[in-house]
Amino acid sequence: LDVDWDASAATLGGYSDFMSKEIAEQPEAIERLLKGRLGEHGIEMDELDMTDEDLARIDRIYIVACGTSYHVGLIAKTMIEHWAKVFVSVEYASEFNYSDVLVTDHTLCVIVTQSGETADTLSAARRLKGMGCKVFAITNVLGSSAARESDGTLYIQAGPEVAVASTKAYTAQMVAGALLALRLALACGQMTRAEVEKVFRELEKVPDAIREVFRRSWQDKQAVPLFRDAQSALYLGRGTSSTTAYEGALKMKEIAYVHAEAYPAGEMKHGPIALIQPGFPVLAVVPADHVHDKTVSNIMESKARGARIVAVATDGDEQVANLADHVLWVPQMDEYVVPIVAVVHLQMLARYVALAKGLDVDKPRNLAKSVTVE
Ligand code: G6P
Repeated sequence: LDVDWDASAATLGGYSDFMSKEIAEQPEAIERLLKGRLGEHGIEMDELDMTDEDLARIDRIYIVACGTSYHVGLIAKTMIEHWAKVFVSVEYASEFNYSDVLVTDHTLCVIVTQSGETADTLSAARRLKGMGCKVFAITNVLGSSAARESDGTLYIQAGPEVAVASTKAYTAQMVAGALLALRLALACGQMTRAEVEKVFRELEKVPDAIREVFRRSWQDKQAVPLFRDAQSALYLGRGTSSTTAYEGALKMKEIAYVHAEAYPAGEMKHGPIALIQPGFPVLAVVPADHVHDKTVSNIMESKARGARIVAVATDGDEQVANLADHVLWVPQMDEYVVPIVAVVHLQMLARYVALAKGLDVDKPRNLAKSVTVE
């Protein structure tokens, strides 16, 4: 395994900031992670150190994480439940540590942590281990506490992530979640080798789709004025896109200091809609998927109240093009895979807004790269 790096050795290598460098490194990181993973019998993941029989017995999974890694957990849940049909509960580590935990003899714990050192996440893992659960870590840092204390570790091999706001670790961790979901789906007999291969081929399209999004960064730049002077903004999405909205809003808060609040689109009418008045920015993540039309109706409700709409949509979606003030276009992709691509626009948008406000995108105020206290 080649993960021979040290964060202190990271250099800008011609980029103006680490965030832009790390955004740019996403396609290669994902290519590295996917390499050699599709084998004759399915997904190669020896790191799990579990047999097919062990995997088939798993009856529930706790995914525990913080911050951006928590959002990885939300996506992994949709993938695991959709492909492997195993129940998943995603928990904020800081909440999990002080609440009741309902484990069975066949509960798997997955911790997601870029640094491998987040104190709350490590405590949660220790607690579950103490209850007899197997603990599997998805992390970026070789030899980190998370790796040392877990029964199995999948390294995302994304290279050092220096900017406080996580970008390449987020997308690579989502790919790791997809691999775990497919491995489980095969072991549980929920998918055939051919079905797994079909999804894997979609995952292989992600690096080029992200490169295509890079070529469209001008679309993100055009949307900057809507957020630069805004006190707050609403980010909406449904299904897998609700998580993209959460992560996009987190990026906007972290580095551009805009109070972006993310909501599942259908919940908007139970509160946040009261915020909307003429000029209020609403960002809707609405790729071509089975809930597309439902989110379109939420865009219409926002627009009717004077919101300015920025939409993340799939190439060719004229309905959204006609409704939105700006569209951040993504290529057509499987709806369980598109979050890995769509979020890249929201990373770039947050960075451009922060730069337009003259902020330090790598070191936002009050935040630490790794939080090692509970
Ligand atoms: C901090 C960082 C976030 C990160 C979170 C979890 O809050 O500022 O960017 O997502 O910790 O970090 P981890 O290393 O556990 O993924």
